[in-house]
Amino acid sequence: MIAESIEKPTTRWQDFVVPQNWDDFTADDHAVWDLLFARQCELLGSRIVSPFFDGIDLLHLSHPGVPDVDGLNAILTPRTGWQVVAVPGLVPDDIFFAMLSERIFPVGNFIRKRAQLDYLEAPDCFHDMFGHIPMLAHHDFAEMVEHVGRLGTAAIAAGEGERVARLYWHSVEFGLAREKGELKILGAGLASSFGEAHFSLESDKVERLSFSAERAIHTAYKHDAFQPRYLVSASLDQTIAEIVGLSPDKLLSL
Ligand SMILES: [Fe+2]
Repeated sequence: MIAESIEKPTTRWQDFVVPQNWDDFTADDHAVWDLLFARQCELLGSRIVSPFFDGIDLLHLSHPGVPDVDGLNAILTPRTGWQVVAVPGLVPDDIFFAMLSERIFPVGNFIRKRAQLDYLEAPDCFHDMFGHIPMLAHHDFAEMVEHVGRLGTAAIAAGEGERVARLYWHSVEFGLAREKGELKILGAGLASSFGEAHFSLESDKVERLSFSAERAIHTAYKHDAFQPRYLVSASLDQTIAEIVGLSPDKLLSL
C-alpha cells in the first residue's frame, strides 16, 4: 500500500550536471587539448562550413588549454541563449534531448589521454566543445538544435526515439553540406575527428546521398566505425529549414 503510493522520482536533466572542476585538469590535459586543437584546425582548413570558425573566433576557443564552461557561457549565453554544462559522460537520450530543448548543451568533464588521441570510448570535452559549441553561436543553427531537442522529447514519448536519433546523427553529428558549391563538413562528429574528417569528404568508398529530413529519419548509421554513407545538404540553410520545419507529428509520420 505504502510502496504503491510512493511515486517514482522523476529524473531531471539537472540531476546529471556536475561541476566541471576546471582546476582539476592537469598540465598534460591542457597540452592534449592544445595538440588536438592545433591538429584539427590545420586538418579542417576550409573543409568545414564557414560559421564553424566564426564560432571558434567568437568564443575565443583558440585560447590555450581546455576551455572553462563559465568563460564559454559568458559569451555564448548572451549571444544565442545556449548554456554549456558539464556532465561525467554520455547522458540518456531522453535527458539529452530535454537539455537541448532548453538550450543546454552537455560537455564531458574529462579529456582523452595522450596515449588515446584517436580512440574514444565516450565523447570527451574535445569532441563536445570543439565539435559542437562553435556552431551554437550561429543563431539559426542554435534555433535548429533547440528544435531537435523538442522533436526528440516528443519522439521518445511516442516510442519512436530512433527517428530523431537518426535525424540528429545525419545532421548535427555527421552531416555534410555544400557551401558555394563545395562539399563541406557540417557535423561535430566529423569536425572533431582526425580520421573521418577527410574520409567523409574524399573517400570513394562511401555513399553520399542528398539530405532530406525524411531520408535522414530512415537512414541507419554506425556509432562505432566510419559511416558507410553520408547525407549531403544543398546548404547549411537547407538543413536548418528542413529540421525547423518539422513538427513532432510530421516527424512521426514521415
Ligand atoms: Fe556529439
